[in-house]
Amino acid sequence: MAESIRTFSLQWRILSLIIALLVYFPILSGSYFKPFNVSYDHRALIIAGKRRMLVSAGIHYPRATPEMWSDLIAKSKEGGADVVQTYVFWNGHEPVKGQYNFEGRYDLVKFVKLIGSSGLYLHLRIGPYVCAEWNFGGFPVWLRDIPGIEFRTDNEPFKKEMQKFVTKIVDLMREAKLFCWQGGPIIMLQIENEYGDVEKSYGQKGKDYVKWAASMALGLGAGVPWVMCKQTDAPENIIDACNGYYCDGFKPNSRTKPVLWTEDWDGWYTKWGGSLPHRPAEDLAFAVARFYQRGGSFQNYYMYFGGTNFGRTSGGPFYITSYDYDAPLDEYGLRSEPKWGHLKDLHAAIKLCEPALVAADAPQYRKLGSKQEAHIYHGDGETGGKVCAAFLANIDEHKSAHVKFNGQSYTLPPWSVSILPDCRHVAFNTAKVGAQTSVKTVESARPSLGSMSILQKVVRQDNVSYISKSWMALKEPIGIWGENNFTFQGLLEHLNVTKDRSDYLWHKTRISVSEDDISFWKKNGPNSTVSIDSMRDVLRVFVNKQLAGSIVGHWVKAVQPVRFIQGNNDLLLLTQTVGLQNYGAFLEKDGAGFRGKAKLTGFKNGDLDLSKSSWTYQVGLKGEADKIYTVEHNEKAEWSTLETDASPSIFMWYKTYFDPPAGTDPVVLNLESMGRGQAWVNGQHIGRYWNIISQKDGCDRTCDYRGAYNSDKCTTNCGKPTQTRYHVPRSWLKPSSNLLVLFEETGGNPFKISVKTVTAGILCGQVSESHYPPLRKWSTPDYINGTMSINSVAPEVHLHCEDGHVISSIEFASYGTPRGSCDGFSIGKCHASNSLSIVSEVKLYCLQHWQLIQSYEGI
Ligand code: GAL
Repeated sequence: MAESIRTFSLQWRILSLIIALLVYFPILSGSYFKPFNVSYDHRALIIAGKRRMLVSAGIHYPRATPEMWSDLIAKSKEGGADVVQTYVFWNGHEPVKGQYNFEGRYDLVKFVKLIGSSGLYLHLRIGPYVCAEWNFGGFPVWLRDIPGIEFRTDNEPFKKEMQKFVTKIVDLMREAKLFCWQGGPIIMLQIENEYGDVEKSYGQKGKDYVKWAASMALGLGAGVPWVMCKQTDAPENIIDACNGYYCDGFKPNSRTKPVLWTEDWDGWYTKWGGSLPHRPAEDLAFAVARFYQRGGSFQNYYMYFGGTNFGRTSGGPFYITSYDYDAPLDEYGLRSEPKWGHLKDLHAAIKLCEPALVAADAPQYRKLGSKQEAHIYHGDGETGGKVCAAFLANIDEHKSAHVKFNGQSYTLPPWSVSILPDCRHVAFNTAKVGAQTSVKTVESARPSLGSMSILQKVVRQDNVSYISKSWMALKEPIGIWGENNFTFQGLLEHLNVTKDRSDYLWHKTRISVSEDDISFWKKNGPNSTVSIDSMRDVLRVFVNKQLAGSIVGHWVKAVQPVRFIQGNNDLLLLTQTVGLQNYGAFLEKDGAGFRGKAKLTGFKNGDLDLSKSSWTYQVGLKGEADKIYTVEHNEKAEWSTLETDASPSIFMWYKTYFDPPAGTDPVVLNLESMGRGQAWVNGQHIGRYWNIISQKDGCDRTCDYRGAYNSDKCTTNCGKPTQTRYHVPRSWLKPSSNLLVLFEETGGNPFKISVKTVTAGILCGQVSESHYPPLRKWSTPDYINGTMSINSVAPEVHLHCEDGHVISSIEFASYGTPRGSCDGFSIGKCHASNSLSIVSEVKLYCLQHWQLIQSYEGI
């Protein structure tokens, strides 16, 4: 007996070893999948010989830190994504011509490997033009300096550089064995980006460029399909794909190509001074369901995680530092509920339909009413037997509809799709949100309270505690500050001088004012005026180091009254960029600073042509050049203690040290007390900040999901500062004494800066009899002759906290007709008085259960 146990255990060990080798070999050998090929037909991408219905999550790797990547990928997978999609950011990878950077946030290979090891696929959009609200659309600024270059057209110097970079990326991926045929996750690539939008501006050369880009890409032998989005003339062998808020009904330019949606805009970006966009989860789910309903097979959320425009990466002009995008994962990587959960349920329902969706070559259409329709997919299942799935849509924006389908009655809420994975039972309706809602709370940072702190009730009030009581200050010189300046007769274009190494460019000229001018002004008016035909993005005008005024705009006329004294005056113009243009034709010609004529008006002897004056130029700030924001260099500068009652001052550097908040919740700086500038933590550039108030009007008081979405619908935050919280990734923080440095342009109060943490502090769930049973109750459906009686399963509500948190109290529960929303509920006309105590007991059970798991794990 003992012998046989030993033999068995030996066999078992050998077997385990073989299993382990089989499981881990691909990973040890650097591959994540058994190598497979990808092709396509008119219906779908064909992965390892099988048509697939794919859901993709857009995540831009430099908009997060490498430390955040795994969690973002895991949450994408948990949310039902099969694929991750990203652009490749040329200006991040080749900041200086010929000098490549694939480190840190630009460690593309690492990002792709993490995707592979999570079992997801990757759609890599190389561009290399990307748009993306990214500085200069991803182009390195040095590209402008190549003689004779014209971007994105049939232009040899441009094509040469583009080919070099695209080849570099494809080779990098191939060398790291990251293509699917090598066992890696890359299943698809993209060349160019929405070139169709600008192609006409380039005439025949534009058309030739499209053909060249396609054949150049195909010539690289990457071995996976290439996409061109919004490109109706995409050549054969390149799939033209759709971008937009809705892409149902999109038809590619050939019957041999599948219907792909490369950018499903699930929210939108924000400009300084703009309101915050929100796309309702119900409408987004409707758009996605309609897409698969009408023949779509690959859909990517742009963005699934938007993240942050760290440093000076935000495009523009005037795009804010946050790139939250109202995406299912918020700027910090926390789930945005109910969007994340509702989409997860949607994806689960679509997955249940996949066998039928791929079995049919096209859906069968059935009209159910004037604004109601069904699309039915049926065919032979892969494992034998018949499969059938149906989508019932009500595109009426106002009214519910009762329809008959296959002999059964269905009620469809307005602007919704019901998904029937067995052509009979409704697994999901896009307008019925069963997922929890969560409201993010922003808490003042507190010292660690030990492990029990997570049981404490979330503090809803912002009880402010400021980051530091002790600040140092340093004045930035106004005007020319160093030897590396130069003088030139005439006004130079801003980017030609700065090469975008800094936002700032000083221009100084001397103006001599006669006694006659002074008496002329006394008689005719109080001053003279600087007048410039056209400028962007910020212009500050100084006379004798005193600020006369600032102008903000995008190619607007600048008119700034100035006052001179008799004799010599220094006229200083500071031009500033706030993100380079990232969209449109002829980007290389766009430039920054001034255009047209510049003059000084109001002089006795007529206007003074400033365009012809002699100007001394200086790029950037002294503090930038001295790198006083870094841990290594900040102490070399002559800081002095800032008095608490110091009056706000322009062009100041501030620094302090702070300890990070306890725990793992995302950290933000609240910079509401500041004016405008840039901030660094431990030398890491967290971005531009600007305490600008958003437009007063245009925000809807309520948000109705029904009807076509656009970025002006359901906006919030009108009349409030556009962005007050700035993400400081946890991995940039040390356990204590973190250096915070700010450059403040307009005057602010650093003593009121606070550090906070963000968490999903309030959770709500609502469910009614009209909700469908939870999707996990669906096993593999028995199609057509299904015997499952899933309708007898009651709907459930599930509440989940972010990692490290538990539900600490139930504040409201009502079985009845409660009113209000997650921000504040009230009891309706009908209410069961024991609701709260019953739900609280359930919660207590959860807590005990959770504690049990914790202590078990602790053993
Ligand atoms: C698209 C573009 C994306 C992004 C998006 C708006 O047109 O392809 O890169 O800019 O618009 O967020």
